[in-house]
Amino acid sequence: MKIKNIETKNNIFLAPQAGVSEVAFRSLCSLFGSGLNYTEMVSVKGLYYNSKKTFEMLRRGEEEGLVAVQLFGHEPEIFEKVIKSGVLNAFDIIDINMGCPAPKIVKNGDGSALLKDLECARNVILAVVRSTDKPVTVKFRKGFNKGEDVAVEFAKMCEEAGASAICIHARTREDGYSGKVDLDCAKRVKEAVKIPVIASGDVVDAPSLSRTLETGVDGVMIARGALGHPEIFSILQGKKVTLSRRDIARLHIKLLKKYYHDEKQIVNLFKRHAMKYETRADKRKQIALSQSLEVIENIIFDEK
Ligand SMILES: Cc1cc2nc3c(=O)[nH]c(=O)nc-3n(C[C@H](O)[C@H](O)[C@H](O)COP(=O)(O)O)c2cc1C
Repeated sequence: MKIKNIETKNNIFLAPQAGVSEVAFRSLCSLFGSGLNYTEMVSVKGLYYNSKKTFEMLRRGEEEGLVAVQLFGHEPEIFEKVIKSGVLNAFDIIDINMGCPAPKIVKNGDGSALLKDLECARNVILAVVRSTDKPVTVKFRKGFNKGEDVAVEFAKMCEEAGASAICIHARTREDGYSGKVDLDCAKRVKEAVKIPVIASGDVVDAPSLSRTLETGVDGVMIARGALGHPEIFSILQGKKVTLSRRDIARLHIKLLKKYYHDEKQIVNLFKRHAMKYETRADKRKQIALSQSLEVIENIIFDEK
């Protein structure tokens, strides 16, 4: 798949997921063949005001291939200043979040709030495009309120404003993450624009991947389906995975230790995945209650 001047080696990408798509997990997914990784959403205002925590989200893994940094915000001039400052130079693509449903994001006019303000959304895209030569992508939802569908209109606006590709998560803001993603909506979006379209939502295995690609979209993103299952990228490309689930968990911990030095942070990041790596219900309970990496490792790697 080609996004402006960038050619991805396949069309199965790791989706942006706050608290999940950090540098270690992205690196792991790259080792399993993800064609492009999206970072978790990063506050453009946080970067503008030099927030240390926000800057920590800008690390890029040595194991990673192509990476898109996802920004959220709604003020064109802030995007422009941050991009022109050069702090995002290590990334291949700049993505703008126009789909986040979280109340704390929406109340500031960011994320999916932009679905209700096309003029503001357009101005943000125009500002980002004029501030960089990198490809600019936009990830958005089908609409804001239940039953609303602004996807085609929004997609055309993104294309006209200069986006090099778009990603549609065909649920409304009000749907959150429930119900099935609307593949007809993804199809309509694909038919409405010439730029590449990526679909996000409900890809968890080969049948769901086929169903999504049958809409004609150029690529897919996987979010929840990769949680504790980074090997999904290899499996969906028909590659044999020789590592056991325990080996994968071991590799994951190794990468977390490489990129983080604070045990509490490693435990917090690893726990969500550990609950998937570990299939025994009693052991999962123990993991949920533990704050020690050693204890969690002992539970997962104890084969009894
Ligand atoms: C825990 C979590 C965090 C997410 N964070 C982001 C984010 O930072 N930016 C974004 O655009 N989407 C975010 N999403 C949405 C996903 O990228 C994706 O569009 C959605 O989960 C549907 O895909 P899935 O069925 O593969 O999970 C998040 C989803 C989850 C579950």
